[in-house]
Amino acid sequence: MTLLGRSYSNLRHLFLNQYGRISTNRSLSITAARLTKEDPIKEEAKKSEAEPKKISHANRPMENTSPITWRSLIFGGGVLAVVTGYVMYLKNERRKKVERERSRTIGKAAIGGSFELVDTNGNLRKSDEFLGRWLLIYFGFTHCPDVCPEELEKLSKVIENLGKAKYDIVPLFITVDPERDTPEMVKKYLEEFSDKFIGLTGTTEQVDKATRAYRVYYSAGPRDKDNDYIVDHTIISYLIDPKGELVDYFGQTKDAEEIEKTVIFRMKTHKT
Ligand code: NI
Repeated sequence: MTLLGRSYSNLRHLFLNQYGRISTNRSLSITAARLTKEDPIKEEAKKSEAEPKKISHANRPMENTSPITWRSLIFGGGVLAVVTGYVMYLKNERRKKVERERSRTIGKAAIGGSFELVDTNGNLRKSDEFLGRWLLIYFGFTHCPDVCPEELEKLSKVIENLGKAKYDIVPLFITVDPERDTPEMVKKYLEEFSDKFIGLTGTTEQVDKATRAYRVYYSAGPRDKDNDYIVDHTIISYLIDPKGELVDYFGQTKDAEEIEKTVIFRMKTHKT
């Protein structure tokens, strides 16, 4: 054959082998066996993977690994403490910022102001005389069927606990029913809750001025045949700082413990 002819024959041979067209059953089974047979290198690797613990135990006894483990534990604990401390610091800073913002907003609302009222002994009391002391002010009326008694009971508890913890605060009760709440009436009523409260009443004008300053809404309802009536009113306790400024307020949903904690927080973080 010519050179060309041989080359062609070689090419054809290679091509057919590659695609198995002339492969016999025997050559196919050989190929299959080669494909499924485990790679000797992989087999070796698998063997060494099978017993890694044994090897490491033999090479590194516990006595030698212990100090490293303890050191890394202590170091790890130190890092954790630093990270935790930093996260807590950030949280605290954020809370302070929120509190400052809240104070600023409250300040802007301009709640609070001067008043002149009459106490349960019939003496004139002016707001200025309370400057330099913390105040907890509640507006209500002695004929209130349920809300005021509950609130006063709650506030009495707060005042009692703050007193025990040596925090100085003066609770004021200001009536929103000057018509019926005479000094004697208020005195008798407050005795049921706490002897710490300073009860305040006055003329309708005096009470109006105080409620306007604190933005307290009140409105006497219709009278029944016994001339009895309910006074609808705002249920909020105001925390006033020694400068006479409002620093916080508490709605009906706040319980004694929450109020107490907030008052203490306010006192401790207060800037004079
Ligand atoms: Ni009430």
